[in-house]
Amino acid sequence: MIKIAHVSDLHFHKKAEDNEKALSLLDRIKGAYDFAHDEAYLLATGDIVDDGEISQYNNALTALKPFEEHLLVAPGNHDYGFGGNIFSHDSALLFDNEFLPNLGINFRFMQKQPMVRLLDDGAGTKLLTVGLNSVLETSTVLDFARGGIGKQQLSDLNTILSNPGYADIPKFVYLHHRPQKCIWFLEMVDAEDFMAVMNQNNVSVVAFGHSGGTMRPEEPPQARIMNIIKKEYGVKYLLNANSSVDAQKYYEIVVDNGEVSVSIK
Ligand SMILES: [Fe+2]
Repeated sequence: MIKIAHVSDLHFHKKAEDNEKALSLLDRIKGAYDFAHDEAYLLATGDIVDDGEISQYNNALTALKPFEEHLLVAPGNHDYGFGGNIFSHDSALLFDNEFLPNLGINFRFMQKQPMVRLLDDGAGTKLLTVGLNSVLETSTVLDFARGGIGKQQLSDLNTILSNPGYADIPKFVYLHHRPQKCIWFLEMVDAEDFMAVMNQNNVSVVAFGHSGGTMRPEEPPQARIMNIIKKEYGVKYLLNANSSVDAQKYYEIVVDNGEVSVSIK
């Protein structure tokens, strides 16, 4: 059995009092799994820090260190730039070259190539996970907020997902920006092309964050579990964990004997 706890938009700040909610959610997840023995993972789909600034990265590093080797991440617009509005090369380098390696992840998301990791519980259950960089390297503020996968990364993603060697393995794709239809200035620039690749390749779960979701903490994250008719569209679950910190909830994705299920915890 493989389990993934999905949170998003942790937005670590410099001051400790601004990080209490993110830390309490992570503490709860830490207590819910035996990370030393179980095939359990924490997934943080971007905006891990608020301004791509070094003291924020240090706080995030301390908080995420206990999940080392059991951690899946993707960059968000706030990780790569001040206030999530302006792309900063220095912030992107911090994320790729300092923050991730300190968590045992040696991968350069700035290259805009999919990060592939095949999870395997050693007892017959496997899950193909693919992380994407949806941050646009642009000085256009609105496009930066929208995000995009880009032609090359999308083509590489399609090649990976359609590999016959993965035909019988459930597929899980994660990114920061919202890939589904929404108001134009928040919709990923190549959302339709991306979702076509997801559906053609029968991806079971697409996990993300960035925007949307209720501001009422007692409610579960908004991208409630959306069951789409699998036969017709391929994708079974679209999970938006943008409001997971406010709601103090996370998605739990469980893969067992080739079956994928999702609940809110
Ligand atoms: Fe974002």
